[in-house]
Amino acid sequence: MTKKLIAGNWKMNGNLGANAQLLDAVLEGLGGRALACDVAVCVPAPYLLQVQGYQDRSRDSSGAPRLWLGAQDISRHESGAYTGEVSGRMLREFGVRFALVGHSERRQYHGETDETVALKAKAALSAGITPIVCVGETLAEREAGQTDDVVRRQLAAVIHENGHCITEIVVAYEPVWAIGTGKTASPEQAQQVHAVLRAQLGVASPAAGGIRILYGGSMNAGNAAELLAQPDIDGGLIGGASLKASDFLAIVGAAQVL
Ligand code: PGA
Repeated sequence: MTKKLIAGNWKMNGNLGANAQLLDAVLEGLGGRALACDVAVCVPAPYLLQVQGYQDRSRDSSGAPRLWLGAQDISRHESGAYTGEVSGRMLREFGVRFALVGHSERRQYHGETDETVALKAKAALSAGITPIVCVGETLAEREAGQTDDVVRRQLAAVIHENGHCITEIVVAYEPVWAIGTGKTASPEQAQQVHAVLRAQLGVASPAAGGIRILYGGSMNAGNAAELLAQPDIDGGLIGGASLKASDFLAIVGAAQVL
């Protein structure tokens, strides 16, 4: 079975003091034992150095961190005149292991197209960072019966650009209507879309069964276990609930027992 991944997405939240409190509690909750799932937090760029320290402190006896460091975005460019952008190589200097790519808030507020997202995934891979590629439909698209087409189109661009190393990516299905709204896709709704994505990945690679497909969108301590029990749900991308140690740890706990 694929090792699950629980990734927090802090979005534009936090400050040095609050981050320290949150991460002290998370590390304490994770304890000293080896974990049955991977755990990561995707943090705003100014906090990479701070959270790198926690990643280092969290290493188990094999040297693997119990808490991986992730970024929330990555430039599609390597270097140069791109004011405000952060390159994959810069992120690697801070020990970044994962980068969110194509989160719906980036698509919506920053005009990221399927092609940009695919190039960002490529930039991450070439820097040695695992992209967590986000896909998902809006409420209008769901109501129009377009969910499968939308997520397939979004993923197709990424496969087109990164087909040769597609097993290196993580996919996150995040229905836009479920993000930050308290409305979660039902386990059946989520599983149905995950199966569509798995089948599409299967055409690109015979090893698609090992590609982690996370669910995101109002996942919380109460609904995580049922969502994570679905056969094609390999973890969660957690927004609001990742800002509270007890909630985040409860989700990690749900992933551990499965
Ligand atoms: P949410 O956010 O858990 O607050 O709905 C998830 C996300 O946007 O990644």
